[in-house]
Amino acid sequence: MPLLRSPSARRQLRAAAAAAASWPRPWRRCRASLGAGSPSQRLISTPIFYVNGPPHIGHLYSALLADAMHRHRQLLGQAGGRFATGTDEHGLKIQTTAAAAGTSPERFCDRVSAKFRELFTQAGISYTDFIRTTEPQHKRAVEHFWTTLRDRGWLYRAYYEGWYCTAEESFLATSQVTERPDALGRRHVVSLESGHQVHWTKEENYMFKLSEFREPLLRWLQERKLAITPKPFYQQVLQWLEQDLPDLSVSRDRARLWWGIPVPGDPTQTIYVWVDALVNYLTIMGYPEGHRAWWPAACHVVGKDILKFHAIYWPALLMAAGLEPPEQILVHSHWTVQGQKMSKSLGNVVDPWACFRRYSVDGFRYFLLRQGVPERDGDYYDEKAVKLINSELADALGGLLNRCTSPSLNPSSTYPGFSEACFPRDSGGSGKASVEDYELVSSVGALPQQVSSHFECFQIYKALEAIVNCVRQTNGFVQRHRPWKLSREDPEQQLWLDTILHVALECLRVYGTLLQPVIPAMADKLLTRLGVRSPAERSLSNVDFLSRYHGKKSPFEGRTLGPDAGLLFPKLKKAKDGS
Ligand code: MSP
Repeated sequence: MPLLRSPSARRQLRAAAAAAASWPRPWRRCRASLGAGSPSQRLISTPIFYVNGPPHIGHLYSALLADAMHRHRQLLGQAGGRFATGTDEHGLKIQTTAAAAGTSPERFCDRVSAKFRELFTQAGISYTDFIRTTEPQHKRAVEHFWTTLRDRGWLYRAYYEGWYCTAEESFLATSQVTERPDALGRRHVVSLESGHQVHWTKEENYMFKLSEFREPLLRWLQERKLAITPKPFYQQVLQWLEQDLPDLSVSRDRARLWWGIPVPGDPTQTIYVWVDALVNYLTIMGYPEGHRAWWPAACHVVGKDILKFHAIYWPALLMAAGLEPPEQILVHSHWTVQGQKMSKSLGNVVDPWACFRRYSVDGFRYFLLRQGVPERDGDYYDEKAVKLINSELADALGGLLNRCTSPSLNPSSTYPGFSEACFPRDSGGSGKASVEDYELVSSVGALPQQVSSHFECFQIYKALEAIVNCVRQTNGFVQRHRPWKLSREDPEQQLWLDTILHVALECLRVYGTLLQPVIPAMADKLLTRLGVRSPAERSLSNVDFLSRYHGKKSPFEGRTLGPDAGLLFPKLKKAKDGS
């Protein structure tokens, strides 16, 4: 808490309110949250990752969510959008960890940042920009941002006194800390949220007049109900704003924290690592010159632990610098492991590379995105992952593809023809299709729209649930009509057999198309097997499910299927120790 607050500057408050009132408020036009604005000029970002340790599955999850959102936008035809990620390399935490490792922070950061890049490449994270906060253009952007805040009168010098948590790189109020004994019975003051030790710090710093942005922030959130999604997190931010909003210390004494960007014009101070880090979103957009074409069409994917920084500090800093808050902040919860928080001391930090070896990249991508519910923490353990992946990818989806492309049912290996006589549009007619078959056609027809709505609301797991329900319905359809009992010798039966296969392959084509953002390699394998090769045929705008049923031509009918590259997903074995 600052000892010296800014004098109650009503004039400043009026200025902040006036600045907020005069914005063009682009959020008004994006009622549907993601989907408005110029599609080619939109940014999706991950948080930038601390390099004090190697990446774990929690980091991967943040990146995967953003990747799936970005890929889904591309599927919708928004090709020019950008997707940024990177590493957060300054601050006390990195300075101390590098020293403990007996190396320079530069070398330490190079090594760990490369690990993140390596992980993202292997995981298929399709980023367009990778930023490191130690890069010169970022330093330039941060200096410019700082100078703007200073010149607009939002910074002042004061003695700061309060608790600092190095692990969280954040200042905590007395209500956010508690005293706890360690293993040796020594009492320490720790952060209530993370359990990490905090230290009392007292020094002269620069303060940011955050307290004056309470009302502009409230107004922004009242007008932009979807700015923070999902809703419980929006409510959480409103609750924070109902409490006291003290000014924020935004620099540290350089004698203690030298691994960071010096305050312009004052070499005795280092810019607070969170101000430095948040500005990365502008650096990517070419700030201070090129960002205007993009900003504020930015959508930040963040974990719940860093919500306050993104939903309060960042919009306030932006307003202070004369810029608008980001279009949207998408918030996710955390992964625990066998019911426990991941931590180095418990030795249960899960290595993503080990997961790729165990489940394959797409298998693990599927697990995290299918099981991860943004509003709730998810729990990972091997048996759960194996069960889910085997049942949904190997059995339901892989089994369906295998059945419908098997040489015994489809000896010519072509996309079979559709018979309107067998499956007439009028369900009361004389065809062979049952009521459930018409339900299937209607479910799969509605699926792309349903999936897109779930993506827009950042409910990727619901999109996957909807897809898997349709996959199961399609398996039921094939099972119900037993095409293997039909004879190709009998022309009437052959027509029906081909129609069954045509419908099933059309369903599979829709699933393959929709699954591209989540399991890109497996979706590619599936679509290639169906003979759906070109990017245009794989886009959502051309999905045109079961066009023959709707009385139109099908570009796929009669086409030779792609080569058989083996099982879509070979079943995973249970762990020997049953863990
Ligand atoms: N460097 C800051 C972010 C600055 S953004 C301007 C930071 N880095 S972090 O490496 O600690 O965390 C990055 C992301 O990983 C956050 O979204 C965080 O929520 C996420 N995760 C870290 N542990 C996690 C889990 N156990 N589960 C899911 N995600 C978690 O914070």
